[in-house]
Amino acid sequence: MKPKVVYKPISSPEGIEDHVVYMGRLQNNARRYYQCALVIAILVTVLFCLMAAQLLLFPLLCTSSTEKSVSPDNSCSDPCSLVLVESIPEGLEYSSNATINPSVYQSWKRLLSQAQSSVDIASFYWTLTNKDTHTNHSSASQGEEILQEMMKLKQRGVRLRVAVNPSGSKAKDADIDALRDSGAEVRVVNLPHLTSGVLHTKFWVVDGKHIYIGSANMDWRSLTQVKELGTAVYNCTCLAQDLGKIFDAYWVLGQDNATIPSPWPDTFSTTYNKETPLEVSLNSTASLVYLSSSPPPLTAKGRTDDIDSILSVIDDAKKFVYISVMDYTPTEEFSKPRRYWPAIDNHLRKAVYERHVTVRLLISCWGNTKPNMFPFLQSLAALQSNKSHYDIEVKIFVVPASEEQKHIPFARVNHNKYMVTDRVAYIGTSNWAGDYFIRTAGSAIVVNQTGTANATNSLQKQLEAVFLRDWTSDYSHSFHSLTSYKEKCIF
Ligand SMILES: *[C@@H]1O[C@H](CO)[C@@H](O)[C@H](O)[C@H]1NC(C)=O
Ligand SMILES: *[C@@H]1O[C@H](CO)[C@@H](O)[C@H](O)[C@H]1NC(C)=O
Ligand SMILES: *[C@@H]1O[C@H](CO)[C@@H](O)[C@H](O)[C@H]1NC(C)=O
Ligand SMILES: *[C@@H]1O[C@H](CO)[C@@H](O)[C@H](O)[C@H]1NC(C)=O
Ligand SMILES: *[C@@H]1O[C@H](CO)[C@@H](O)[C@H](O)[C@H]1NC(C)=O
Ligand SMILES: *[C@@H]1O[C@H](CO)[C@@H](O)[C@H](O)[C@H]1NC(C)=O
Ligand SMILES: *[C@@H]1O[C@H](CO)[C@@H](O)[C@H](O)[C@H]1NC(C)=O
Ligand SMILES: *[C@@H]1O[C@H](CO)[C@@H](O)[C@H](O)[C@H]1NC(C)=O
Repeated sequence: MKPKVVYKPISSPEGIEDHVVYMGRLQNNARRYYQCALVIAILVTVLFCLMAAQLLLFPLLCTSSTEKSVSPDNSCSDPCSLVLVESIPEGLEYSSNATINPSVYQSWKRLLSQAQSSVDIASFYWTLTNKDTHTNHSSASQGEEILQEMMKLKQRGVRLRVAVNPSGSKAKDADIDALRDSGAEVRVVNLPHLTSGVLHTKFWVVDGKHIYIGSANMDWRSLTQVKELGTAVYNCTCLAQDLGKIFDAYWVLGQDNATIPSPWPDTFSTTYNKETPLEVSLNSTASLVYLSSSPPPLTAKGRTDDIDSILSVIDDAKKFVYISVMDYTPTEEFSKPRRYWPAIDNHLRKAVYERHVTVRLLISCWGNTKPNMFPFLQSLAALQSNKSHYDIEVKIFVVPASEEQKHIPFARVNHNKYMVTDRVAYIGTSNWAGDYFIRTAGSAIVVNQTGTANATNSLQKQLEAVFLRDWTSDYSHSFHSLTSYKEKCIF
């Protein structure tokens, strides 16, 4: 079918030629325009050279431009060691040679056992026990064990601080109450009131030295029934203290009647960001690292907003962008009236169209998936065709569930929130919809080891292997085959 788009008639008959003539006319106009522009450019250059010469001859006259742009010394000699960790839901099986990483549960146990002075946890909600979920499932034991370990911290002389979003109901506060009783300090951060979002961040800072950050909630299901991905970094004071600043912001906002400071005091500022990342060795590999944060009202001076880190990682990709997130939609999921929010979509399309980057999106489907996500994904996937040479593909990951597992509420889903390109690894805590970057609190770690040619076991390589393992697994369904997503997803 010929396109119905009608350009201003020029001289020839209507139809497809019209388009060609129109383009020809445009090019002629452009030529004239460029000749003109060239003359102006030469004039401007001459003027500029004159001014520059004057400044060189009389530098003292030029007082206002002497402000120095001293770049901060962002190098750090900590012997950081980074471990990629995952929760693989019970019953989800890969081929025997597949990449298997240490578990989130192991990393939490290890962090708790190493803690000597402090554990700070930023969290959305707490349901670490069967009691919380009104279930009686043996796989809750890992979560219950974690809660028990936390309740022993005070005895060991370790200060536990928890920042948590309001639960909205006293009945849902059992874990929080138990922690308080054990001596933990808990602050409820009323983000719904402060920004109309939620505190959705999930990270730990231990002894100001070790961190965990990733998709897992403080929920027993996040250890055995939901597919999660995160990272633990040990012996890394410079990074841990920077994450500590984000925690401190939540902590301040958890005080009674708190308001959001504007601007945030300097103690919350950072010099580690996408322009000047921390230079540190991770597993003896030279790396550039920074932590991003959302929403903008909570980001102090120097901190990169989470959405800006995502866009810059996409823009930086030369060969591929692999994305694994539970929800992806170029809208604000929860706004009324509805709002379109194409920031990420635009950068993905641009990468495909302008740079021929291969884009793969692995999105989740489960009982709580909003159906209106699919037309937008379909629209991205529609760029791909045998003729177009635009390489973009969407697959839907469905976590299998036995009859028994189907009865576990809010489980059996791929909850991952990461992206890996041919150059950089990004591990976050937000779903990819507008609200998460505009109103909701989240954060992410960005690891760039492209400068190290030989990083054979870089985080980027490990994350790429994880993505390809999932992408090629039987749990990933080609988007085109998904005529009725309800049939494919487990409800
Ligand atoms: C794992 O084994 C399968 C079949 O045996 C093979 O196709 C695949 O390439 C292997 N994957 C890796 C990561 O070695
Ligand atoms: C939980 O299940 C076990 C067996 O699986 C049973 O012995 C126990 O009584 C159950 N507890 C509750 C509270 O239902
Ligand atoms: C952290 O450093 C300590 C002391 O040097 C060492 O004993 C420990 O093994 C390190 N931890 C990791 C995970 O590398
Ligand atoms: C917070 O506001 C309430 C109501 O205005 C007031 O009663 C209370 O004293 C305030 N608390 C603090 C710590 O300022
Ligand atoms: C694209 O090409 C492949 C292999 O040549 C073929 O199997 C597929 O059906 C084609 N797809 C479309 C949409 O034409
Ligand atoms: C990664 O580091 C290189 C320098 O090694 C830099 O040019 C590039 O912009 C960085 N990428 C991102 C996404 O920050
Ligand atoms: C990089 O890898 C090559 C081949 O594995 C090795 O010969 C070389 O020494 C390595 N260089 C560095 C700086 O590690
Ligand atoms: C870093 O070292 C730890 C401990 O040796 C290992 O488990 C982990 O996989 C390594 N991480 C990377 C990114 O190579």
